[in-house]
Amino acid sequence: MKKIYRLIMLIPYVSLFFACGSEKTVDRETFKEIQKSTEIKKVNEAELLEFTMKWGDQISGEAQKSLVETLQKAISEKGTSGAVEFCHAEALPITQEVADKHQVAVKRVSLKNRNPANAPNEMETNLLEAYAYNVEQGLENQPNIQKVDNGEVLLYTKAIVIPGGICLQCHGDPNAEIEAATLAKINEKYPQDKATGYKAGELRGMWSISIPRKEAIKNM
Ligand code: HEC
Repeated sequence: MKKIYRLIMLIPYVSLFFACGSEKTVDRETFKEIQKSTEIKKVNEAELLEFTMKWGDQISGEAQKSLVETLQKAISEKGTSGAVEFCHAEALPITQEVADKHQVAVKRVSLKNRNPANAPNEMETNLLEAYAYNVEQGLENQPNIQKVDNGEVLLYTKAIVIPGGICLQCHGDPNAEIEAATLAKINEKYPQDKATGYKAGELRGMWSISIPRKEAIKNM
């Protein structure tokens, strides 16, 4: 009697187990899909822009820090002309490393660029001109976000102003602030260089970070 009782108890238990097992996977997939689509719907545009602004600040800050640290190290180890060679080889890979880490595109662009690869596109040109106007008028520049590619990409930009000192050794007056050996190195590596003659406080360029909307939502 006891054995039969146990068997009866076991049958519903086993069938319940299988039923749950198979239904669970279907349910979980459906649930995930629903969750994903509502996640996208739930994100409100203002929150998305606020997040993108903070994230852009963070990414540009990281890239800036990495560049300045390596630049200072290169100057102290190799002198300013040696550091030009170092920037030539390392500036773009350093920004690329930060870009890869966050799955976004990171550039430094300038109207008066040293590396022609840092020339701005049309949208970036408009933004650079607006930032330059503000600097000339003594107005403070705030980072900006523009929607591009039908809103699929959020373009974060932030002005880069020459703080003075160290930057002028390579971007200042070629007849006074840039040493002859450094200038020779700049001309050798960048025959089309436009990035000299800057003064402290002037707009040097801007960070341009293209953040796919999907990546921003994923990271919110
Ligand atoms: C040792 C020389 C040197 C110093 C010092 C230096 N730069 Fe540069 N800078 C370069 C070189 C070389 C490039 C081109 C890098 C490349 O090939 O991408 C460059 C490129 C740039 C660019 C990208 C746009 C362009 O013109 O190609 C910006 C922005 C910039 N520098 C800002 C600064 C600022 C701000 C400082 C001071 C914190 C500074 N640089 C100090 C050598 C220097």
